[in-house]
Amino acid sequence: MAILDGKALSEQLIDSVKERASELSPTLAVILVGENPASMAYVRNKKKACEKAGIEYLEFKYPDTITQESLLEKIKELNEDDSVNGLIVQLPLPDQIYVPDIIRAIAPVKDVDGFGAYNLGKTFLSPDFEDLPPATPLGIVKLLDHYDIQVQGKEVVVVGHSNHVGKPVSVMLLNRNATVTTCHIYTKDLSAHTKRADILIVAVGKEKLITADMVKDGVVVVDVGINRNKEGKLCGDTDFEEISKKASYITPVPGGVGPMTVAALILNTIRATERQHKV
Ligand code: GUN
Repeated sequence: MAILDGKALSEQLIDSVKERASELSPTLAVILVGENPASMAYVRNKKKACEKAGIEYLEFKYPDTITQESLLEKIKELNEDDSVNGLIVQLPLPDQIYVPDIIRAIAPVKDVDGFGAYNLGKTFLSPDFEDLPPATPLGIVKLLDHYDIQVQGKEVVVVGHSNHVGKPVSVMLLNRNATVTTCHIYTKDLSAHTKRADILIVAVGKEKLITADMVKDGVVVVDVGINRNKEGKLCGDTDFEEISKKASYITPVPGGVGPMTVAALILNTIRATERQHKV
């Protein structure tokens, strides 16, 4: 079994854009609402990555009582500010905020999370049209590429059908000629599907959803889940210890997909800036 070391690759990718960043002077703006500890940790990592890459990082923090109108107003201001190249709103948002309207408000050219309909639509078409693909799926594709894990003709099983991970990663791998099955909460016999997987991607948010008896020998496991177990330790959606004995490759949690999402955000910020400068 080998580890898919997202932390190491993320550092390498962030390092690789430094020169480009110094030519382009990109700026990423991050809007953070409330004090969700996980969101605060993610945002801290994004800030650190920007500092390493040489991307200017702006953070706008609001209390969780903020209104939809105020949030939309801030997004409009940042859309219109030519010194801002990338703009993300950290999720989740409090209940009074309607997330689809927030995502729709972000200018597609600055949507470096790749959450909006324009960038998702381009991602849907083919790898050649991917412009700002969603950050986590892009990170997963980069991780598989780096370890020379071919996807063409492979049985890929994705567990989870969120707009941000499950659906777009399914499409991106379908566009790379994998045979993709997307499972979700209503899937009847989950293990019948997962047992067939050459590559298993799990993005649900449920500790030990996937156990060793649900995978075949030699499987490649990409665990997107970030949960806390009873002891308060971070863990994914798969039983890492037992599945490690059967898998050919597996991502650790932490240190797998998480850092790759951050690296993908950095790559998208560079890309967005290049497009805006038309260079
Ligand atoms: N919340 C959890 N992951 C993400 C992410 O990649 N982007 C944003 N905006 N919010 C998140």
